[in-house]
Amino acid sequence: MEPRARSRLPVTAAAALLALTAACTGGTVQGRPGASGLRDPYFPKAGNGGYQVEHYALDLGYDPAGGRLHGTAVITARAEQGLSSFNLDLSGLRVEGVKVQGAGARFNRTGNELTVRPAEELKKGEVFRTEIAYGGKPKALADPDGSEEGWITTGDGAVGVGEPVGSMTWFPGNHHPSDKATYDITLTVPHGYQAVSNGELRSRTDTGDGRTAFAWHSPEPMASYLATAAVGRYEVTTGRTASGVALYTAVEPEEADRSAGPLARLPEMVEWGSGRFGPYPFGTAGAIVLPAGTLAYALETQTKPVYSGAPDSEELVLHELAHQWFGNSVSPESWKDMWLNEGFATYAEWLWAEDQGEHTAQERFDAFLEGDTSVDGRAAADWDAFPPAAPPGPEDISGSPVYYRGAMVLHRIRQEVGDEKFFDLLRGWAVDHRHGNAGTAGFTAYAERRTGHDLKKVWDVWLYGKARPR
Ligand code: TRP
Ligand code: ZN
Repeated sequence: MEPRARSRLPVTAAAALLALTAACTGGTVQGRPGASGLRDPYFPKAGNGGYQVEHYALDLGYDPAGGRLHGTAVITARAEQGLSSFNLDLSGLRVEGVKVQGAGARFNRTGNELTVRPAEELKKGEVFRTEIAYGGKPKALADPDGSEEGWITTGDGAVGVGEPVGSMTWFPGNHHPSDKATYDITLTVPHGYQAVSNGELRSRTDTGDGRTAFAWHSPEPMASYLATAAVGRYEVTTGRTASGVALYTAVEPEEADRSAGPLARLPEMVEWGSGRFGPYPFGTAGAIVLPAGTLAYALETQTKPVYSGAPDSEELVLHELAHQWFGNSVSPESWKDMWLNEGFATYAEWLWAEDQGEHTAQERFDAFLEGDTSVDGRAAADWDAFPPAAPPGPEDISGSPVYYRGAMVLHRIRQEVGDEKFFDLLRGWAVDHRHGNAGTAGFTAYAERRTGHDLKKVWDVWLYGKARPR
């Protein structure tokens, strides 16, 4: 239709006709604004509609003394509709300029939404490049559950952590786990500091002005909540696992002695996980041990989980490693699906302990059921407050039922189908959804198909049932 109109009518008339046609047919020709949120049940404004990001290139300088971050984000994305404008999520900071496809774009900000209006509309299917120059003093966010996330300063540095929505405090993006992308994160910091991020360190360059640029590359897709950047005076250790996964650990010197024990078996754990859940999904593994007291939690940031001070235990290290399969490679469709992350990572702890000849998973399961804290010190947590697949609100997505009742669901499946089918299910789930997204309904259907068992009772009672199962 377009070429025909153009050949028969003067250009302006053709444009008017196209616009009219678009208006009449609901905008099939003309672009329209992308949605300002993805309607996540708990974080409706997180993420944005109308495009999917393919790649983020963040080039950021950080000055630990002043707490200022400054640089550019280059976002390569594919339009999923014609776009007259689109949104990015960004909290705080100052946007200095935006270009789309090399041309200056208009932008405005309301709350955590940065709306970009390109000079020329984007066509459905078009791959486009948006460059945002920005900077300022990033501010951390308080989560619905009271914990802090986002850009967090330490005594002499900082770290970016983003679960569930904190990444918008340090870079503009499509901040919802359903939009995964590859990353290149380059951090420039004063001499004497290390800058650590996800993936592989491609280069370390003296910029000639008293600073060093650390260029980190993540070739596998990553949900933005798993991006990290840590600036500090870390002790770095590198190595390789038996099967060749590169290891990089950055440890706050004051925590080095206490970290050595819990981190010692990380290489072995990577191999163990690969045996249980299928090949480790990333090219690199490691850890970042922050100064004690930086955060109230550990986080499974992709390839290099962050710990606030030395990890308390080997099981915590195993938990964050297990997230690399469950959460990071197989990512949740929505924040309501958190048990697919936490229930699985918790059950991985139980399996590791079982394989070490410590408590069996059955013993842990029984202990939780009976409130017996002698097996797992956490058994007394209010695990029966709500069912794992239905946390009542955003403040509950990190609640104990998501972890412990989530793990118990997996153990109930194991009891129903037996070890052989159960381990085939765990591995199949991770392998078949590798580097993708999945939700709870997808899991229950997959589990029944893969094992050939009707598991409706397990779902009704253990996954969705409000009452405390007996
Ligand atoms: N995912 C972290 C873990 O390893 C815990 C966590 C930190 C968390 N922040 C969160 C869980 C926000 C849910 C939401 O267990
Ligand atoms: Zn976890």
